[in-house]
Amino acid sequence: MTLRLLATHCNRPGAPRLALALALGALALGARPAVADVETLELPPDGVALKASPLPGYAKAQAHCVMCHSAEYMLYQPPTAARPYWEAMVKRMKQVFNAPFDEADMPDLVDYLVKTYGNEQPR
Ligand code: HEC
Repeated sequence: MTLRLLATHCNRPGAPRLALALALGALALGARPAVADVETLELPPDGVALKASPLPGYAKAQAHCVMCHSAEYMLYQPPTAARPYWEAMVKRMKQVFNAPFDEADMPDLVDYLVKTYGNEQPR
């Protein structure tokens, strides 16, 4: 994108070299964060288990929420996430990814999630 803009807009004599220098600079700048990202990217550990809880949603989450991905997906949600966030999440799992649990299980699931990973955690 940067390259094409520079190439088409700089048609004065002497401009191409400047454009090239700018483009190379932009490339270097653009490349650095990408490289840093790759180097610092840490994949979450496999097999993270759900946090145990006496809530009824715990068993339901074990049955319905860790068949496609491990519980680290819950772990990496913001601890400030409120109930509606978890409701939307659970709904999304069902509607978008066809997670096979009953509508009737959703309140328990959400209750467990928000109290275990969200903003209703005991302090
Ligand atoms: C049918 C498979 C399936 C089931 C069952 C499932 N999920 Fe997911 N879940 C996914 C997929 C696929 C993604 C990755 C979505 C993405 O990358 O956008 C995901 C991503 C997530 C994320 C990461 C945040 C996000 O928006 O991508 C969370 C949190 C999560 N799931 C929670 C749950 C919970 C809670 C349950 C149980 C109620 C559940 N999942 C059940 C397939 C599933």
